[in-house]
Amino acid sequence: RELRIGVVGATGAVGREILKILEQREFPATTVKALASSRSAGQELPFKGGHLVVEELDENSFNDLDLALFSAGGSTSEKFAPIAARSGCVVVDNSSAWRMDPEVPLVVPEVNPDDLSRHRGIIANPNCSTIQMVVVLKPLHDAGKIKRVVVSTYQAVSGTGQKAIKELESQVRQMFNMQEPEPEVYPHRIAFNCLPHIDVFLDNDYTKEEMKMVLETQKIMGDETIRLTATTVRVPVFYGHSESVNVETEKKITSAEARVILSQAPGVQVLDNPREKIYPMPIHAAGEDLTFVGRIREDESIPNGLNLWIVADNLRKGAALNAVQIAEVLLDRDLIRVDDAL
Ligand code: A2P
Repeated sequence: RELRIGVVGATGAVGREILKILEQREFPATTVKALASSRSAGQELPFKGGHLVVEELDENSFNDLDLALFSAGGSTSEKFAPIAARSGCVVVDNSSAWRMDPEVPLVVPEVNPDDLSRHRGIIANPNCSTIQMVVVLKPLHDAGKIKRVVVSTYQAVSGTGQKAIKELESQVRQMFNMQEPEPEVYPHRIAFNCLPHIDVFLDNDYTKEEMKMVLETQKIMGDETIRLTATTVRVPVFYGHSESVNVETEKKITSAEARVILSQAPGVQVLDNPREKIYPMPIHAAGEDLTFVGRIREDESIPNGLNLWIVADNLRKGAALNAVQIAEVLLDRDLIRVDDAL
């Protein structure tokens, strides 16, 4: 069967990763169209031994497409995702524009694949920090019902996009040349620093990134009683987000039980042998598809608590891979069609 797909934002950090993953997983597309802004129209992107020529995104880009994977920022998604859906092209959107719309499924295939069946043309891919956390939380929730989560993140600059990767690179170089860099992408220097500030500040003094983790977790897990509080921090790492996660459950889960539960969880690998200095780290998670969990300990300050350290490649499981996995489930369940567009 013919399956024509588009990658919107193909020149970006996530878009390039999507092309790699489509190739690596042999996604059965008959044609792949690379779309971006007029700035990069005509540019060539490597794909399957050859290349794709980038086309400028416009209202007509979707007329000959069945499926589009968007990663070109919130405003592009807000404008173009409904245009795509109305022309019969199913959208998997990586921006935050549609995630909390009650009509839009927000999906992590290991957690809530069944939510895909109610899509109306747009499916949202969750926030990178949320995705890697929920693949680990879901099996613990099923085993002991999670009451509360306290999470602190250590997020890589690639989550901000191509410009931020370049900014960290050039700042490190400048500092080794005794120059103080002028920050551009971030409000302060990111080289050799940590910024407790991701996305914009809201009225409650949390950042939007922190509130995304709260609201998206409840929506994906289908349980609004889960209480969650987050502190999200940008660190000078190129690829791979890390998270310190404290979980309180209704029913006791021992650390030994958690290790067994998590070693059987789809998409998760336990790396937890402190004596051998084995634990997850971004340098090992980069380029990998699994979410790694280690430092599994009982929280000795409460009766039913666990501490976990979770690491994944933010561009892969946190973005591009999750989007492609959603597309694979859509294909598998014959859901690549729009009957009643948003
Ligand atoms: P372009 O390279 O032409 O600017 P990143 O997250 O790495 O910054 O990448 C953002 C992606 O979104 C890029 O592919 C970028 O294309 C694309 N993009 C940004 N704004 C638009 C727009 N208005 N229309 C189409 N693509 C856009």
